[in-house]
Amino acid sequence: MKTVKIDLGPRSYNIYIGKGIVGKLPSLIKLETRDTPLFIVTNRRINTLHGGKLKKVLMPLSKKILFCEVPDSEKAKSFPVYIRTVRRLARFARKTQPYVIAFGGGVIGDLAGFVASAYRRGVPYIQIPTTLLAEVDSAIGGKVAIDIKEAKNIVGDFYQPKMVLCDLQFLKTLPKKELRNGLVEIIKYGIIKDKELFTFLEKNVKKILKLDNKALEHVIFKSCGIKAKIVEVDELDTKDLRAILNFGHTIGHAIETALGYSRSITHGQAVASGMVMASAIALKLKMIKSGDCKKIYSLVRKVSPEIKTRHIKLKDILSALSYDKKFIYGVNRFILPEKIGRVKIVSKIPRALIKTVIMGEII
Ligand SMILES: NC(=O)c1ccc[n+]([C@@H]2O[C@H](COP(=O)([O-])OP(=O)(O)OC[C@H]3O[C@@H](n4cnc5c(N)ncnc54)[C@H](O)[C@@H]3O)[C@@H](O)[C@H]2O)c1
Ligand SMILES: [Zn+2]
Repeated sequence: MKTVKIDLGPRSYNIYIGKGIVGKLPSLIKLETRDTPLFIVTNRRINTLHGGKLKKVLMPLSKKILFCEVPDSEKAKSFPVYIRTVRRLARFARKTQPYVIAFGGGVIGDLAGFVASAYRRGVPYIQIPTTLLAEVDSAIGGKVAIDIKEAKNIVGDFYQPKMVLCDLQFLKTLPKKELRNGLVEIIKYGIIKDKELFTFLEKNVKKILKLDNKALEHVIFKSCGIKAKIVEVDELDTKDLRAILNFGHTIGHAIETALGYSRSITHGQAVASGMVMASAIALKLKMIKSGDCKKIYSLVRKVSPEIKTRHIKLKDILSALSYDKKFIYGVNRFILPEKIGRVKIVSKIPRALIKTVIMGEII
C-alpha cells in the first residue's frame, strides 16, 4: 500500500492507494464507539457490485450501518436528492454524531461530501472512490458540491475528508470509457507538473488500460501527490494555483455545455480535446516547441480518439466559453503549456486564434 499525506494543519489526512486495501479500513478509521452510525452513500450499481465486501469490512466497526442508495449519474447532485439524503441521515443517526462514507465515483463523492459538510454543521466523512477519475481527482481536495439548473457544481463548500482510500480492486468492474476518463486527468497531471509521469504514460498506457496493478498504482500515487501539493498551497482556490488543474477544461467544459451535457461525448473526451486545443494555442503563440506539442497530441489521442461531432456549433462553444469562471471582467484566461511539466495562466488570447484552433480540431 502507498500513502500520500495531504498536509493541511488540523485538516490533514492520508490518501491510501493499493489493491485489496479496503480490508484495512478497521485499522485506519478511529471510531469512539461501536455505536457510531456509519452512513454509506452509494448507488445501486456500485452497491450491488462491491457493497457486500464493504459491509463485511465495516461490521466489526459499528453496530449501525446504512447503505443509502442515490440515483446513478449526475442526477444525484441535485437539491431533491440532497434533501432526501440529509433527511435519511437525520432519521438514521438521530441524536448521535454519524460518520459519512462516500462509496462511488465523483458524483457520489461530491454529494456525500456536501451532505457531511452541512449536516450538524459538519460531520466526519471519508472517501472510498470507485472510479479512476475519483481516485486521482474528485475525492481529493475537499471540493464538495451539487448542481442547479443554472450551473454545475455551483452550490458547495470546501470540506476535507478524514481519509481517502483508493482500492484498485474496484476498478475491475469499471467500464472502459470511465477508465479512459480518469486516464485523461492523469495525462493532465503529467502536462501541468510532471514530465516523468508523462513519459511513464507514453510507455505504459496500454498496460494501464489493461489494469496492470503496478503501473496503475504508480500513476495514481503520482497524480494524488501532485493534487495534494497543489491543494496544500491553495486549499480554497484563491491563489491561482488550483486553477492549473483546469488545464484542458476551459474549452473542454465549453464543448460539454455546447452539447448540453448530452452524454454524446464523455468528460474525458471533452477535456482531451481541450488539452489538444490549449496546446495548439500555445504553439501558435510560440510558447511551446512543436515537438512537445506533438507528444501531447499523440499521448492524448492514444487514450481518447478525436471527437467526431460536426454538429457542435462554434458559436455555442464560444458563448459557453464566455461563462468560464476563470474569466475576469470579460477577459479570457487560459492555462497553456510552456513545456511538458509546466503550464502558465495566460490572459487576452485573441478571439480569432481561439476560433481557428477550435475549428481546426473539431469542425
Ligand atoms: N470535487 C472535485 O474536485 C471534482 C473534480 C473532478 C470531477 N468532479 C465531479 O465528479 C463527477 C464525475 O465523476 P466520475 O467520472 O467518477 O463519474 P460518476 O461518479 O458518474 O461515475 C461514472 C459511472 O461509473 C459507475 N461506477 C462507479 N464506480 C464503478 C465501478 N467500480 N464499477 C462499475 N461502475 C462504476 C457509476 O455508477 C457511474 O455510472 C462530476 O460530477 C464532476 O463534477 C469533482
Ligand atoms: Zn476533469
